[in-house]
Amino acid sequence: MKSAASAHRTHTTQHRINKTIAVLGTGNMGTSLMLGIIKAGLTPAQKIMACDVNQEKLNTLVAQWHVHATSSVRDAVAAAEIILLCVKPMTVPAVLREIKPVIRDEHLMISIAAGVRLSFLQEKIGRNIGIIRTMPNIASTVDEGATALSYGAHVTDAQQRIAEAIFTAVGEVVTVPEEQLDAVTGLSGSGPAYIYMVIEALIDGGVKMGLARDIATRLAIQTVLGSAKLVKMSGLHPAILRDQVTTPGGTAINAIHELESHGLRSMLINAVATATLRSGELSKMLSQG
Ligand SMILES: NC(=O)c1ccc[n+]([C@@H]2O[C@H](COP(=O)([O-])OP(=O)(O)OC[C@H]3O[C@@H](n4cnc5c(N)ncnc54)[C@H](OP(=O)(O)O)[C@@H]3O)[C@@H](O)[C@H]2O)c1
Repeated sequence: MKSAASAHRTHTTQHRINKTIAVLGTGNMGTSLMLGIIKAGLTPAQKIMACDVNQEKLNTLVAQWHVHATSSVRDAVAAAEIILLCVKPMTVPAVLREIKPVIRDEHLMISIAAGVRLSFLQEKIGRNIGIIRTMPNIASTVDEGATALSYGAHVTDAQQRIAEAIFTAVGEVVTVPEEQLDAVTGLSGSGPAYIYMVIEALIDGGVKMGLARDIATRLAIQTVLGSAKLVKMSGLHPAILRDQVTTPGGTAINAIHELESHGLRSMLINAVATATLRSGELSKMLSQG
């Protein structure tokens, strides 16, 4: 189901691609991107080639969305103009070996594989095609993703617009130099995990103070959703919004003091920094493999 925000995005930024797209790996992320493309009308379902090793998954996608399907990455790429590389990072080298013979100069490859560098993709492909490395997040599955794009050396303006259109269909898009993708991984790539912990803890806080769990759950979810929406829509700094709900001597300022004394903000800053460093380590390991 599309939110109001994503419906608005679809109407204002719709940029028809109308090219044949091979989606290599139709797991969580590959499927969410594919559905984003179809629902936004970027390219008709008949021009999408879903590819996975899992035939059952493919059968379901064909039945529900009328896309084409194949279990051969080589056949999918041979038939496509755009390649969406959505397999797990460890599977990427084998997939690249398999598709290399059918890669053409005009192909655009968009990779979402975490930690797999542009130089690695370019070297394994062995041709100067346009390659775009991205770091999306799991909220793409509800069209509220946050994606950073990094462009390889041979990417054209038209190819940039294609990638922007695809990821705008499932959320917010920014462009960063590749060396900043580890920080993106530490912030928005891994960020949903931090926010789930916050939601879980707020629920438990409500339950501790006597609320029924289902009531506490609904309130906690809506509080996080609504607060994020207010920051986004007002354009105000979060500190200003926080001050606006902090009555002198009231409940919020007492809770904030508690959070500050346990270093909430420091903890989150450290979490992003630690995840960024780990992303860099993993990326290095993948590049050597
Ligand atoms: N999930 C996230 O939050 C997130 C965020 C940012 C980036 N990413 C990146 O997104 C990529 C996909 O992640 P995911 O969570 O969507 O993983 P996933 O659900 O496991 O999807 C990968 C799919 O590829 C299939 N596959 C395996 N080998 C294949 C092959 N040789 N040819 C075609 N398909 C093959 C898998 O089938 P089987 O399951 O049968 O092996 C699975 O359906 C990863 O590279 C990850 O780094 C994920």
